[in-house]
Amino acid sequence: MSTPPPPAHDHVGLPYAHDSARLHVTGRARYTDDLPELPGTLHAALGCAEVAHGRLSALDLDTVRQLPGVRAVLTAADLCHGTSCGPIEPDDPILCAGEVSFFGQPLFAVAADSVEIARRAVRLAWAEYETQPAHLDIASARAAADYVLPPVEMQRGDAAAALQQAPHRLQGQLSVGGQEHFYLEGQVSYAVPRDDGGLQLYCSTQHPSEMQQLVAEALGLPAHAVTVECRRIGGGFGGKETQSAQWACLAALLAQRTGRPVKLRLDRDVDIAVTGKRHDFAYDYDAGFDDSGRLHGLELTLAARCGHSADLSGPVNDRALFHVDNAYYLDAVTLHNLRLRTHTVSNTAFRGFGGPQGMFAIESVLDDIARTLQCDPLVVRRANFYGAAPRDTTHYGMTVADNVLPELVDQLERDSHYPERRHAIAAFNAASPVLKRGLALTPVKFGIAFTATHYNQAGALAHVYLDGSVLVSHGGIEMGQGLHIKVQQVVAEELGLPLERVRIGATDTAKVPNTSASAASSSADLNGQAARQAAGAIRTRLAALFAVLYGCHAATVEFKGGQVCSGEHRLDFSELVTLAYRRRLPLWEAGFYRTPKIHYDADTRQGRPFYYFAYGAAVSEVAVDTLSGATRLLAVDILHDVGRSLNPAIDRGQIEGGFVQGMGWLTSEELCWQPDGRLATHAPSTYKIPTAYDVPEHFTVTLFDNANIEEGLHHSKAVGEPPLMLALSVFFAIRDALGYCAAPGQRVPLAAPATPQAVLDALDAIGYRPGA
Ligand code: MTE
Ligand code: MOS
Repeated sequence: MSTPPPPAHDHVGLPYAHDSARLHVTGRARYTDDLPELPGTLHAALGCAEVAHGRLSALDLDTVRQLPGVRAVLTAADLCHGTSCGPIEPDDPILCAGEVSFFGQPLFAVAADSVEIARRAVRLAWAEYETQPAHLDIASARAAADYVLPPVEMQRGDAAAALQQAPHRLQGQLSVGGQEHFYLEGQVSYAVPRDDGGLQLYCSTQHPSEMQQLVAEALGLPAHAVTVECRRIGGGFGGKETQSAQWACLAALLAQRTGRPVKLRLDRDVDIAVTGKRHDFAYDYDAGFDDSGRLHGLELTLAARCGHSADLSGPVNDRALFHVDNAYYLDAVTLHNLRLRTHTVSNTAFRGFGGPQGMFAIESVLDDIARTLQCDPLVVRRANFYGAAPRDTTHYGMTVADNVLPELVDQLERDSHYPERRHAIAAFNAASPVLKRGLALTPVKFGIAFTATHYNQAGALAHVYLDGSVLVSHGGIEMGQGLHIKVQQVVAEELGLPLERVRIGATDTAKVPNTSASAASSSADLNGQAARQAAGAIRTRLAALFAVLYGCHAATVEFKGGQVCSGEHRLDFSELVTLAYRRRLPLWEAGFYRTPKIHYDADTRQGRPFYYFAYGAAVSEVAVDTLSGATRLLAVDILHDVGRSLNPAIDRGQIEGGFVQGMGWLTSEELCWQPDGRLATHAPSTYKIPTAYDVPEHFTVTLFDNANIEEGLHHSKAVGEPPLMLALSVFFAIRDALGYCAAPGQRVPLAAPATPQAVLDALDAIGYRPGA
């Protein structure tokens, strides 16, 4: 693509370090639990259900109350106002009101003088249940036809007819597991009662405005009486978009009841046991295709484990449906989507928000087709790419306006020496019965915007002080992704100031109201624009004053290097600010932004839900030990499109981190529930996230040279979530390695995550005995 050369910028596009990098690595960065505690602070703990499904027939808390140091015990009977903390549906009880719907569901909460006393106290409770049969997985919920939300159908064309007429036809079943967020900072809220009856809440959340609203409802207060502040969070990954609410509400209720500050920080094992995760999915497909592997028709059922309540399962499943095409034109397609209720934690947002689960399905189908046709899966992938009209429109009616993937994939194939490595691997495998290598190149196309159009708005507040320093508040949450440094760069650019003259304040509902969650990878796009607007308005006002002072045209006034100038006239920014103040001009502004062009009709399931697409592709090479089932990632090359990067250092970090997190989801992270509904994998001892050791020695990340065709923010593109899905290449490289163990034309029935057990099961299914 021919893109115009980037304009010269002083800050935008530079690889500045994360604004808190030094604080992060020296341990000085303050998270919610690090805030100095006020005198009289109490600590809270949860008492949790020990059955997956049933009626709570008795709950005796006398011994809990009698333990010295216990100051308050809260049960559902004490909730006099809001009783649910559900973000969309009111089906998430803050405390169980009698009907237990998952193992670990909070029954009561305790506030005590210390963390130790609170945690000891909750174990003294005595509960009795009338247990009922529980659906713990997709299969049993499906058999019972139990849904949190009604099933959804989406279609284009006549898939049944296309399947009938297609030269080849293939049916299959697939599955992909869930994922625990494993944010380094666990869930925590610190609630401080104010003298006016209001409440100040410090909360590790991606969504302060929603915390404010739900806490206000739970306390029976107007929203203006509750303020939520958050300087940073130690990772969210979607797990603190809605699921911070229950702990915020409980801390607030206990604070209201005792009149004392209350902190609720979940122990890691409790955190994992009681919070929702990425949805696991099961799929049935029926695909019709021709000799080239090009799809003619596809019928696909996507069954998602939503857990006990709706939470964000509606929009997560919607996004899965929006991404079953990934990079490919689906001509005639019918999708059935089951949003199943299970007696497990309520699954929620997780980086990619259903998109990865949608892409997993189509990539698996194309891989199966390639193995059946006995050709390289990359050939089949290419044959199905979006192209010229009419092959440029998604199944929900959005035009893929800047389809750079054919070009991007060509470049990556060349630069990674894919064809040469393909030959080398075939030769290696022919001579190696036990160790097998595999290679895969997979693309990503990911839609950027909240699919609920109204969330695509943001506000910001810029204050210029008399010394010429600038404080910006916006609605976005810094979760390690580098949002604040990007906004700081944008504002410094706008006002022509050195970076350190601009500071980003803590996110605070009292500064910017009614904000959206920091999610959907859109925080820089939205908050950056709002902050730019606010700074731009101040700049315009100062330029007008400068023009009056020197009798020049406002349009000729430049802001650069901390100075303001036009022709030979020149002033320090701070001098001009002081002159503006003396003339009683306002030196602060609010900014507001709404994403243009987007619309979506939920009834017809047609529209333009996304402002633009972010693209990328990755080549992964793996080795598989067919005796132990162990796999190792040997090499990765990534080519990724971030538009015109706002900050290439931050963007690279997001790409590397997202990729490794996706690799964990698809290879080593496995959630296991015991038959009684207890989550067995509730600690790092049993749940294996990737470590630095799993990062391959050869790991290249290249930014694809491609300005966003939409104006966006300086023609950049969002980067938070899309790279996670590049890790599909790891899974399909493992499948590829196992393909060398299969008979020609035989498919590889590998389940995700590709744990050693799953690898051995797949080898068993294809009848491979190494060395036999
Ligand atoms: N990066 C870090 N370090 N920590 C996080 O919690 N969350 C991811 C992604 N990258 C996350 C992260 C998710 S799920 C999203 S939606 C985006 O960041 C949110 O931030 P953004 O909108 O600024 O990209
Ligand atoms: Mo990200 S899953 O949109 O918080």
